[in-house]
Amino acid sequence: MSSSEVLTPDVEATPPPGLPDPAVLARLAGEFFAALPGTSAAGGVPVPSNAQPAGLSLPPGLSGPATLAAVPFGAIPPGANLLPTSPQTPANAGASLPALVPHAQAPNGLPDHVLQAAPGYDGRLGSQAIGVPRLGPAPTAAVPASAPRGSAPAASVPTPTAPAASPYYFLAEPGLAGSGIPTAGPTALPDDRLTAQSFGLPGSEALRELLSTGRRAPSVPGDRGIPQASSSAHPPFDVNAIRRDFPILQERVNGRQLVWFDNAATTHKPQAVIDRLAYFYAHENSNIHRAAHELAARATDAYEGARETVRRFIGASSTEEIIFVRGTTEAINLVAKSWGAKNIGAGDEIIVSHLEHHANIVPWQQLAAEKGAKIRVIPVDDSGQVILEEYQRLLNDKTKIVSVTQVSNALGTVVPVKEIVEIAHRHGVRTLVDGAQSVSHMRVDVRALGTDFFVFSGHKIFGPTGIGVVYGKRDVLEDMPPWQGGGNMIADVTFEKTVYHGPPTRFEAGTGNIADAVGLGAALEYVERIGIEAIGRYEHDLLAYATHHMQPIKGVRLIGTARDKASVLSFVLDGYSTDEVGKALNQEGIAVRTGHHCAQPILRRFGLEATVRPSLAFYNTCEEVDRMVTVVRRLSAATSR
Ligand code: ALA
Repeated sequence: MSSSEVLTPDVEATPPPGLPDPAVLARLAGEFFAALPGTSAAGGVPVPSNAQPAGLSLPPGLSGPATLAAVPFGAIPPGANLLPTSPQTPANAGASLPALVPHAQAPNGLPDHVLQAAPGYDGRLGSQAIGVPRLGPAPTAAVPASAPRGSAPAASVPTPTAPAASPYYFLAEPGLAGSGIPTAGPTALPDDRLTAQSFGLPGSEALRELLSTGRRAPSVPGDRGIPQASSSAHPPFDVNAIRRDFPILQERVNGRQLVWFDNAATTHKPQAVIDRLAYFYAHENSNIHRAAHELAARATDAYEGARETVRRFIGASSTEEIIFVRGTTEAINLVAKSWGAKNIGAGDEIIVSHLEHHANIVPWQQLAAEKGAKIRVIPVDDSGQVILEEYQRLLNDKTKIVSVTQVSNALGTVVPVKEIVEIAHRHGVRTLVDGAQSVSHMRVDVRALGTDFFVFSGHKIFGPTGIGVVYGKRDVLEDMPPWQGGGNMIADVTFEKTVYHGPPTRFEAGTGNIADAVGLGAALEYVERIGIEAIGRYEHDLLAYATHHMQPIKGVRLIGTARDKASVLSFVLDGYSTDEVGKALNQEGIAVRTGHHCAQPILRRFGLEATVRPSLAFYNTCEEVDRMVTVVRRLSAATSR
């Protein structure tokens, strides 16, 4: 069967013969969830039974959802948190309704709205109800006696084991490395595609069983009847359960359910993060001067707790190595303007790669112009991978820092930063790794990487905008002057002299973005609960699936074909501007970024000023890829006639 035949039409579908009727499945789903404790059904639509923010304050013995993060708000009526909190026009209100009407057909023949609607509007109940295993030990809802005042209860998360570097993104390998799923190559499934079941999603039979009243999944004693997944060393990655943690994925755009393929620009936020932010403002909001009063102590504990979460997430030695900033751009500016101003002089050299985002070019250019230093650029090959031999030739005794991205935002190339750091250190050169596009896709362990600086943004890893991180090795930070002056960062001020605090406070002048730092902590805890390795494996398979279907489309040219890639599928289409392709996709509810992606040098390396850039996250699905491919095929066919 040709790949064009396997893509489902982008229209409301009648189920193929032998498959369940969507209306029947929707009704059964409603009945199934209505049967759960505390749930009443109206018209087959499940009503959330738990008004608390995701997963907290659960009665003893009742297992919580997969996404446990925030502290309860207290009494709000069931379902009230699902209503818009700002005035809406009737049209807007309609756009916010979850997608309950049939729309697209999934590759396994099931209408995807059934899977999405079945567990209810709200991930706090649904995840486990359809068998999402909780990763790690069951979290406790209570704040431990030893916890700092005002702390939100947190899931107990096992310490991650150190992984091999970037093991998942080998698109050129025959088959899909390590996934154990059927490939779309010579050993493909009969119909030449990966299926929902490839990713551990239920097929139609499994769903029928799940929904059958006589065949409830086995319950754990004391769980009040909520079906539990059996424990497994390698629990299946349940993308539908994860999707329910992200309310915005139910939005409709141009009458279609939103497909968010603009994750390299920003990611969406799980309910756990949304709730944590709301809880901060409802119960903890204060400036962070611990000693002043109760709320100051709560806010300080929450902020410093987030710093500890960041430390753990990236494997730093100490919270003193973690500086909060606005994002990756501010992070690189901090390093350039503090470390760079002190350590770079006339004639010195700064190495970046051809792949860099403007944020990892412009601050160094500004510094170089000010100091009379030079920028040198590691070239890339035609696949978009850096050429290590050329890099080695660039290093010399004038080189002071190598600053490279770990994943290219424009092409998706995974750069061998560990080797780059090792080589730099052999020459006594400092390193900065830009993790803006890597940290949400693969395990980052700054000590294993050995880099002097590592920077990333919260909003690219399911956290809020306006918060980001500089990791710096302690001895390097201690030797750096402050880059901004003001309150909070001082030990003593007279008109003659100021004595600064040590790191990290020295680099956090003024009132920081306290709430969003706390939100970032909640986002990282969420990712820890899903498991970054599981995320990496799933995304690898999804990118392989998308590449497999996009590559053969007539007129499509993929930009960035490195063997080791993450998330991004940049392309251009003959006969269309990137803007036209973006608009056609938007017409079908599919969000992609088009343009230069703030990475003009690398696009020009490929003779382009712009690409269409779908970028994937772990809440995306094969069905969504199919919808995109359908549109691109239609455009391609229109020019071929
Ligand atoms: N750096 C972001 C992107 O790649 C904005 O889209």
